[in-house]
Amino acid sequence: MSFTSQHLLGIEPLRPEAITEILDLANAYVEQNRKAVRLDPSLAGLTQINMFFENSTRTQASFELAGKRLGAVVMNMAMQASSIKKGETLIDTALTLNAMHPDLLVVRHPQSGAVDLLAQKVNCAVLNAGDGRHEHPTQALLDALTIMRAKGRLHRLNIAICGDIVHSRVARSNLILLGKMENRVRLVGPATLMPPDVAELGVEVYHDMEEGLQDVDVVMMLRLQKERMDGGFIPSEREYYHRYGLDRAKLDFAKSDAIVMHPGPMNRGVEIDGEIADDINRSVIQEQVEMGVAVRMAAMHLLARNMKNQRGVMV
Ligand code: NCD
Repeated sequence: MSFTSQHLLGIEPLRPEAITEILDLANAYVEQNRKAVRLDPSLAGLTQINMFFENSTRTQASFELAGKRLGAVVMNMAMQASSIKKGETLIDTALTLNAMHPDLLVVRHPQSGAVDLLAQKVNCAVLNAGDGRHEHPTQALLDALTIMRAKGRLHRLNIAICGDIVHSRVARSNLILLGKMENRVRLVGPATLMPPDVAELGVEVYHDMEEGLQDVDVVMMLRLQKERMDGGFIPSEREYYHRYGLDRAKLDFAKSDAIVMHPGPMNRGVEIDGEIADDINRSVIQEQVEMGVAVRMAAMHLLARNMKNQRGVMV
C-alpha cells in the first residue's frame, strides 16, 4: 500500500510509489473496461457527488462513468442552477452536501486552492477535478498512463509540453508528475504564456517549436485558454497557429515515433492541425479519454480503501 492519502488534491504531495500504485490499478481497469461484462462492486454502497463549478465534458462524464462502473450511487449537482447563484458561499454549499453523507466528492472550481479549502471542511474523500491554474491530478495520471502504454515506460523520456502553459493546471500537474518519475520535461511556447516562476521549475524552456520539439518522445499540446486571458497574450490566433500550432512540418522535428497528446477540448487550427489530431498513427488523444475512465476508477477505488482502513473496516 503506497497511496495512503485521504484525498486526491494534487500530484505535488504524492510519492512516486503512490503514483505507480494508482497507475497499476488503472491499467488493470483498462482491460476490464474493454470487456462486455464489467462488474466490480468496489464502490457499492458508497455515494459520489460531482460538483462542477466550471464547464466540463470529458472529466465530468468520465468521473460519472467511473463511479457507476464501480457500483457507487452517483449524483451530479447542477451547479449553474444551485444556490451559489443566490449568493451561498462555496463552504456553505459544501457543508450542506456534507450533511447528506457523501463518501466521495469530486470538485472542479475556477479558483486555485478552492478544492483544498473545501477538503478541510468535509468528512469524506475529496478529488480535485481541476482548480483554477493550480492542479488537475487525474488528468496528469491519465496522461501518464497513456504515455506508459504507448512508450512501454514512464521514465527517461523527453517530453515537450507546448502552448499556453501559464493558464494550465494540466501543464502544472503534468510537469510535477513527469519530473517525479524522472523524465526530461521541456516547456515550449511564447514568453507571454510562460509562468513567471519558470526558471525555478527545473525544466528547459523554448520559445521556438522547431528547437523545442527536437528529438522528443512525446508532444503534449495545450488549449489556448481564452477564458483565462484578459487580452494581450498573443498577437492573433492566425499568428499563434503559424508559430506554435502543431502541424506536420513542426512534428517532423520530434522523433519519428513521437506521440501527440491533447487533454481536450481542442481548438483545431489554433494550437493543433486537425489532420494531426486525427492521425491514428501519431495521435493518442482518444486513448487519453479511455485512460481517463480507468484512472478515475483506480483513484476512487483506492480512496475508498483508505477510507475503510481508517474507519477500521478491512477490505
Ligand atoms: C482541461 C481542463 O479543464 O483543465 N481539460 C480537461 O480536463 N480535459 C484543459 C482545458 O480546459 O484546456
